[in-house]
Amino acid sequence: MERLQKIIAQSGYCSRRKAEELISCGNVRVNGKIVTELGTKVDYADTITINGKVIDIEPKEYILLNKPRGVVTTTSDDKGRKTVIDLIDSDKRLYPVGRLDYDTTGALILTNDGELANLLMHPRNKIDKVYIAKVAGFFDKTNALKLSNGVYIDGFKTAKSFVKLKKYDKDTNSSIVEIIIHEGKNHQVKKMFESVGYKVLKLKREKIGFLDVKNLKSGEYRYLSLKEIKKLYAETKK
Ligand code: URA
Repeated sequence: MERLQKIIAQSGYCSRRKAEELISCGNVRVNGKIVTELGTKVDYADTITINGKVIDIEPKEYILLNKPRGVVTTTSDDKGRKTVIDLIDSDKRLYPVGRLDYDTTGALILTNDGELANLLMHPRNKIDKVYIAKVAGFFDKTNALKLSNGVYIDGFKTAKSFVKLKKYDKDTNSSIVEIIIHEGKNHQVKKMFESVGYKVLKLKREKIGFLDVKNLKSGEYRYLSLKEIKKLYAETKK
């Protein structure tokens, strides 16, 4: 049993606060009966309607996938390419939290908890996303500073980030750079490097918040523990 406002928020219908408002105003019915008590406990088997419309609730699942290259981060693809959902054996309607490009690998959360997904994706909640980028050429300190102070991509200035050169390989003339951001604009990391004249040759997301994929092989996934789910919620509220 869970609190009604939590179940509504997890369905992705609206935020928990908005759900409380809807309940207090008498817009929510549980199994046909109007419920205005905020503490009311409900079950996934109950039918919840808001303003006459049944909302979709189901038990929540939380998965951490080590996304391989050559897979799209969507629930379906009109070009028939393999999607991250195809890699997961689940009967729930999961969706990816944020997006990794077709050729980007690494940590990706999939869930049907709309509330957590929205909290994790909102830049205001400053969830660190740790990327390791292989870029062409020697990545010098001046450009690292430029990236960390914020650069313009598509007319938007990126927030401050952490940028560190990890390694330079003379033979291939390429650099391995760690970059930590909490925003998630389309192709953000690649565009940030591009804005200072560097091409990203390879990109991996090592971590989302405290979750890393060190113990997962490419294409493998695992379910998050209750402790990890609570910690993720807590990280968004810091
Ligand atoms: N930034 C990118 O450019 N690509 C990704 O897949 C993720 C972040």
